[in-house]
Amino acid sequence: MKLIIDDANIEKIKQLYETFPVDGVTTNPSILARTGGDPHRVLRGLRDFLGSEGELHVQVLSTDAEGMVAEAGRIRAELGENTYVKVPVTREGLKAIRLLAASDCRVTATAVYTQMQAFLAAKAGAVYAAPYVNRIDNLGGDGVAVARDIHELFQKNGLKTQVLAASFKNCRQVLELVRCGVGAATVSPDVLEAFLKLDAVDAAVERFRLDFEGLCGAQATL
Ligand code: E4P
Repeated sequence: MKLIIDDANIEKIKQLYETFPVDGVTTNPSILARTGGDPHRVLRGLRDFLGSEGELHVQVLSTDAEGMVAEAGRIRAELGENTYVKVPVTREGLKAIRLLAASDCRVTATAVYTQMQAFLAAKAGAVYAAPYVNRIDNLGGDGVAVARDIHELFQKNGLKTQVLAASFKNCRQVLELVRCGVGAATVSPDVLEAFLKLDAVDAAVERFRLDFEGLCGAQATL
């Protein structure tokens, strides 16, 4: 499963890349707004950092298919053809996904709340479909189950589209989908950092150090 960072703060992303084995970056308009910077400059900075092969996902703002397709063209011209264009699975979005997939544009179908949205996006040629796990939970549904069912639905129907699970609030939601083997999960820096916030581990490592210090002194190493 790919592990992706759902953020656009370049300094934070560089720092996370030093520790975590991550595979790319997803953004959305709200995430870009949170940076407070010029979105074109922020996205170019991300592309420069990731290099031409790094996975970068960028969402369109238009609400009509024609506008989405035009925006996708501008996004790819500015950020490279391997940039995944995020298109919400609305009626117009589905139309745009078909057009974009036919022109070899890599599409991440986003704002997925239902299995049927994911199925339609996959049939239309999306590379990824992004179910919003925590937002589904907040509506009283079961986000992990929806993402898992979409993964199975793709496999049973011979669809190549991968689940890119999104919108997580905690590690358990992510882990359950790792166990299902979905294609990718995109997580916020907070959730990513929480993967390694383990007091028991820190305490165990400190105990080892103190025991060795008792034998060989404070600065000793092997
Ligand atoms: C990804 O495609 C979504 O934009 C993102 O994960 C939504 O996350 P949120 O529900 O935490 O805003």
